[in-house]
Amino acid sequence: MSEFIYLDNGATSFPKPEEVYTTMDTFYRNYGVNPGRSGYELAVEAGAVIDDTRKNLTGFFNGTDPSHLCFSYNSTDALNLVIFGMLRPGDHVISTTLEHNSVLRPLYHLSQDGVDVDYVPFDGAGFVDPDDVRKMFKPNTRLVIINHASNVIGTIQPIREIGQYCREAGIPFAIDASQSAGTIPIDMEEQFLDIVVFTGHKSLLGPVGIGGLYVRDGVEIRHTRVGGSGILSALRTHVDEYPYRLESGTINTVGVAGLQAGLKWVLKEGTEKIHTHEMKLACMLRDGLSEIPGVTLYCVEDLENHIAVISFNIEGMEAEDVGAMIDLDHDIACRTGLHCAPLVHDQLDTTEIRGAVRFSIGPFNTEEHTLAAIEAVRETADFAKQL
Ligand SMILES: Cc1ncc(COP(=O)(O)O)c(C=O)c1O
Repeated sequence: MSEFIYLDNGATSFPKPEEVYTTMDTFYRNYGVNPGRSGYELAVEAGAVIDDTRKNLTGFFNGTDPSHLCFSYNSTDALNLVIFGMLRPGDHVISTTLEHNSVLRPLYHLSQDGVDVDYVPFDGAGFVDPDDVRKMFKPNTRLVIINHASNVIGTIQPIREIGQYCREAGIPFAIDASQSAGTIPIDMEEQFLDIVVFTGHKSLLGPVGIGGLYVRDGVEIRHTRVGGSGILSALRTHVDEYPYRLESGTINTVGVAGLQAGLKWVLKEGTEKIHTHEMKLACMLRDGLSEIPGVTLYCVEDLENHIAVISFNIEGMEAEDVGAMIDLDHDIACRTGLHCAPLVHDQLDTTEIRGAVRFSIGPFNTEEHTLAAIEAVRETADFAKQL
């Protein structure tokens, strides 16, 4: 059997840097107590890891105040906190057709309750035009929430331009950085961001079960979840200050420790180096796949503004069957279907054919992996011709 090749890093990065595994093991064995709620030494040490990671992530996004870095379980959780905490019936919100269901579904549920939602489509190359966003501003627009890098077509959206328009209009601007944080620079100040939502287990190379958001000073998100915060226990209501406002219950401390180790690895390597490596392989993949008769690629013309996510179909085969052959015959992991982003597939006209096949490259992939993936698709396309 050939070597197993993992090209599903868009779903979750795998493997993790060795330091992530060892840090989590050491942390949980030595400091696996409840942090911040007691004065004994181990609790203080566990709390220090959380505080340090808030600082590290705040610096990473060029935020100003680590207490505005709130932890959640993952992006979906943080996006729910933002969307349900900022919108009320009668409000207007602008999003895009690039969004993941973690944005689409909260918005859909709110639209049933009287929130007015507009979705800006992407153009043929996979980009949202900032002017199209601006044209949708209304007096009651309370939020613009945009996917930074698509988990289906890989395009990176012009968030700085969109952010500038939002700032001028006084509309809070949030980005879903699930696919970008850890590989594409994100800067609260320079890109006019009000809220950055991230997940720990993708390009930040941490474990599952930890994510969060950074909220710019002055941006109000109501708490939609309340409970213990470890401080001010006599209060009958939930603590109002960030980060407690958006956090309740015991934080996933071992997840935070793993995330911190992942972030440290990213910082040691440098996002630019990681992105350059991944995009070199993505270019190879795009060029190789585009030469195979019967293969259709989506939005790969401009790889300048792209993450290493490439989606395609083979004429005459369903994506799921292509994925199964690539897995069973070649031991390569990819992702097929609608990728939790149904509006992208509606726009690409791939819903009827049940989505697409996605390869997503990570920092530990190699040229050999990429060549093997091209070869696997070539053989599958040859097979499809005989059907
Ligand atoms: C663009 C985007 N947003 C949100 C999510 C949800 O991330 P999580 O599963 O960490 O909540 C994903 C996961 O694939 C994603 O790709």
